[in-house]
Amino acid sequence: MKIAIIGSGYVGLVTGACFSEAGISTVCVDLDLKKIDNLNKGIIPIYKPGLEDMISRNVKKGRLNFTTPLASAIKEPEVVFITVGTPPNEDGSADLKHIIAVS
Ligand SMILES: NC(=O)c1ccc[n+]([C@@H]2O[C@H](COP(=O)([O-])OP(=O)(O)OC[C@H]3O[C@@H](n4cnc5c(N)ncnc54)[C@H](O)[C@@H]3O)[C@@H](O)[C@H]2O)c1
Repeated sequence: MKIAIIGSGYVGLVTGACFSEAGISTVCVDLDLKKIDNLNKGIIPIYKPGLEDMISRNVKKGRLNFTTPLASAIKEPEVVFITVGTPPNEDGSADLKHIIAVS
């Protein structure tokens, strides 16, 4: 099974790492070129205990990848998770513009 995670921030990166650890071929996508470049170099932008080792292990096993182009990344996966940010609007509701853009 293949999955794609769109948005490689706190939620997406951890989710992608955990799915790949469970043996699922996972591609994590982000429009932040620098973030993806760093992830491909093994530079992890957040700290969670064990996350760096988990990412490194699964990248080496070839079942965790990081990329930017959305269209090609979602061609093969059977499941796509959208984990982009939803910052609060002035009235406290969630701003869904990033989710709508990805959808
Ligand atoms: N961080 C938490 O602890 C937490 C807890 C519960 C719920 N959430 C929810 O999870 C969701 C994600 O939160 P987060 O903290 O991971 O956000 P984040 O800001 O850490 O990560 C979002 C990522 O999405 C990327 N992105 C934005 N637009 C994109 C697009 N069009 N294509 C590809 N990538 C795009 C950004 O570059 C960023 O790297 C939000 O709805 C948030 O409310 C977060």
